[in-house]
Formats: sequence, C-alpha cells, structure tokens
Amino acid sequence: MSDKSSNQMWGGRFAAGPDAIMEAINASIGYDQRMAKQDIEGSRAHAAMLAATGIITDNDAEVIREGLLTVLSEIDSGTFQFSTALEDIHMNVEARLKEIVGEPAGRLHTARSRNDQVATDFKLWVRDQIDASIEGIEALMKALIGQAEVGYDWVMPGFTHLQTAQPVTWGHHMMAYVEMLGRDLSRFKDARARMNESPLGAAALAGTSFPIDRHMTAAALGFDRPAANSLDAVADRDFALEFLSNASICAMHLSRFAEELVIWSSAQFRFVTMSDKWSTGSSIMPQKRNPDAAELLRAKLGRIFGANVALMTVMKGLPLTYSKDMQEDKEQVFDAADNFLLSLAAMTGMVSDMTGHKDSLAAAAGSGFSTATDLADWCVRALNMPFRDAHHVTGSLVALAEEKGCDLPDLTLEDMKSVNDQITEEVFGVLGVDNSVASRMSYGGTAPAQVLVQIKRWKKELE
Ligand code: ARG
Repeated sequence: MSDKSSNQMWGGRFAAGPDAIMEAINASIGYDQRMAKQDIEGSRAHAAMLAATGIITDNDAEVIREGLLTVLSEIDSGTFQFSTALEDIHMNVEARLKEIVGEPAGRLHTARSRNDQVATDFKLWVRDQIDASIEGIEALMKALIGQAEVGYDWVMPGFTHLQTAQPVTWGHHMMAYVEMLGRDLSRFKDARARMNESPLGAAALAGTSFPIDRHMTAAALGFDRPAANSLDAVADRDFALEFLSNASICAMHLSRFAEELVIWSSAQFRFVTMSDKWSTGSSIMPQKRNPDAAELLRAKLGRIFGANVALMTVMKGLPLTYSKDMQEDKEQVFDAADNFLLSLAAMTGMVSDMTGHKDSLAAAAGSGFSTATDLADWCVRALNMPFRDAHHVTGSLVALAEEKGCDLPDLTLEDMKSVNDQITEEVFGVLGVDNSVASRMSYGGTAPAQVLVQIKRWKKELE
C-alpha cells in the first residue's frame, strides 16, 4: 500500500492515495507528455473563451494564458518536472500552472473535463501527423516522377508472378507507384476533412450548463466546427483509426516498392544501384552492399498495421462514452506515426538517390520471350487469325526457341514458317522490345508517349 496522500486534483473524497502499482498502471504521463503543446494550445483557447463569455474575468484569463506559456517554455527547455502521481499531461500542466499563477489556475477547468480535453489534444496531435504525412507523400511522389522523367522510355521487363510477362517502360513502373501514392494522399486529405471537428466543450460527456462558446474554441484551434454530439465527441477515436489505416495502406505500398528495390539491386538483377547513402556493408563479406533501408521499409508495415489492429481491438465493444481503456490509444499511434513518417522520408531519399541501369533493364526486357504477346497479336492483325489460334502458334514458336536456346527475335524466317507458313518477314518488326512498348498506346498503357501524358498530369496536380 502506498502511504501517499490522496490525489491533489481529484482526491477530495479519497482518504488514501493509490497503490504504487495502481499509480504505475494508471499513469500516462510517460508518453502523453508528447501532447504538451496541444494541451496548452487547447487550454489557452478554452481560457480565452471563458473570459469572452463572462464565465471568468479577463484578468484571470490573461494570467492563465501567460502562465501556460511559461509552462510550455519549461517543457520545451526540459526543466519541467513530470510527476507520475499527477497521472497525465493535463494534470501535470494544471498543477504547475497553479504553482506559477496561484488561484486563477483553479478556474481553468471550469466547463471542461479531461475527457473532452484529451480528445481535443489527441485530435490536434493526429492532425499534425496527417499534415506531415501529406507533405511526405507529396515529396515521394515528386521523387518518383523525377525517376520517371529520366527513364520514361527505358524498356524493362514487366512481371506477373515475378515471371517475365511483357516489356514495359521504367517510367511506367515509377508512375504506377505515383498512382498508388495519389490514392494515399487523397485518403489522408479525406480523413483530415472528416476529423476536423472540435470535441472541446463536450465536457465530461453531456455538455455543460455554463454559457460556453464552442464555435469560438473550435475556430481558435483551427477546427471547422464543434462536434455536434457531446457523447460522440468524447467517445470517438475514429480519427486515430483512420490515420492508422491510411498509414497502413500507404506503408503496404512502400513495402511493395521496397521489395522490388531489394530484388532489383541484387547482383542477379542489377536493375538499380542504391546510393551509398542508403546501403550498408557487411562486417565479414567485403563485396556486400546491402539494401538495409529497403529491407527495413519492407518490414515497417508490421508495426504500423499492428498499431491499427491494436487500437481497433481496444475500441471494440466499449460502451459509450469514455472508458479508461481509451488511454491505451496513444502509444500505438505515436509509434506508428514516427515510423510511418520515417519510412516516407527514407523511401524519398532512396528513390531520389538511386540509379537505374538502362542497359541491364533493356537486356532483361528482351529475355524470357517477353514479346510473345506481340507475336500473337501480329498473327491476329496480319494473318487474320483468331486470337486462340495465334496463342497456340506463338506457344509452338516459344517452345522452338527454347529448344534452340535462343530468344524469339533470333529465330529465322524458316523456323517461323516451320510452325506456320503464312508468317512473313514483317513479323520481326514487332519482336523488338522498343517496338513492343511503343505500340502499347492504349490510354494508361506503357508506351513512352502515354507515360509522358501521365507525368504531365501529375506534375500539374502536385504544383
Ligand atoms: N489520461 C487520460 C487518457 O489518456 C485522460 C482522460 C482521463 N479521463 C478520466 N475520466 N479519467 O485517456
């Protein structure tokens, strides 16, 4: 049993303080101190509103608002003494304010509860992360567009099942990720618009009998409006879940590109060289250049998606409104946000600094019978063959090339005619990879001309 006296914030009806283990499990100050800036911003807006509505005097509000700035500067400079006995950031700040300004500090919590306070602080914190995510995604999109512009017409193998399928262009492949990130971007923007309602003034759960002005505090904190239902306002953590699910989807995209970079930078592929800045060596094998940053990015989704599942599980089945379970919302989101923003920055650096190898890409593009579909399409167009028959003829030609140990363009016209005697010299025109990609002019196709159209569209979009 702890012999500490009862809590100075809520201890009126308590004779004894909490057990030491109770204090340890109950306290969130170890991590929610990350919301100090948001907590003080929210309290300053609340104090100004209490004065504007005549609930406290202008003088008290001024003293409180100034005192809060002093508290913030102590926290920023690292001199602030955080106390576990004071549980969380809200009570730590208020207790220190009392020491600095005295009696007026006790008026700050009028018409407010820690329930609407924590919802407000956390929303402001998550909103900042959404803004940083939007910025990070845009930077990565620009880096990818830069790569696409350099190699908009470089040919490379396109894969399905990681087997050579058809030749594509490097620019097209880069722009595929720009499309994914474009959807990520719009998801974060949507989430921001949806979450931007102020919980402040919902008080404990039911609203308050004081004549507060929730529109005033909402505007002061950059919210579009106050949340319309006080019960929902204190019980809602959708904004954090949306942040985590958006971050999970985006991190999944990053992990797919990271995996490609790991494969592409191997000696067997040699499609890209990662910059020294994003590689590491081995302490035993001198030849090694390991794509560690890409491997870590491939893995980061694990903890981000893990946070998403964890918070969803915390919230599942909670009755309205606030329950202390909800204190378990923050650490997950803090860790996920840190790792997500770090991942975006690392990917942007890797993409900006990597070098694609045009020649290796082109050599690989022509191997593996990558123009077999072009050959079949030619039979349909030039010989008026049904596609299924053309598919069969081409299959026989691939088998023949395989037997001879060569690629399709290396077969002679006699070889071709041995399978189908209608085939003419003209067929060789479609077997080259450059012709193959140039012919894929359908909207959104891999032809360099189409890639340029999409590069132009996205550059304009991101201006
Ligand atoms: N530290 C708490 C949290 O993070 C603040 C809200 C406490 N509210 C309460 N009714 N005990 O959720």
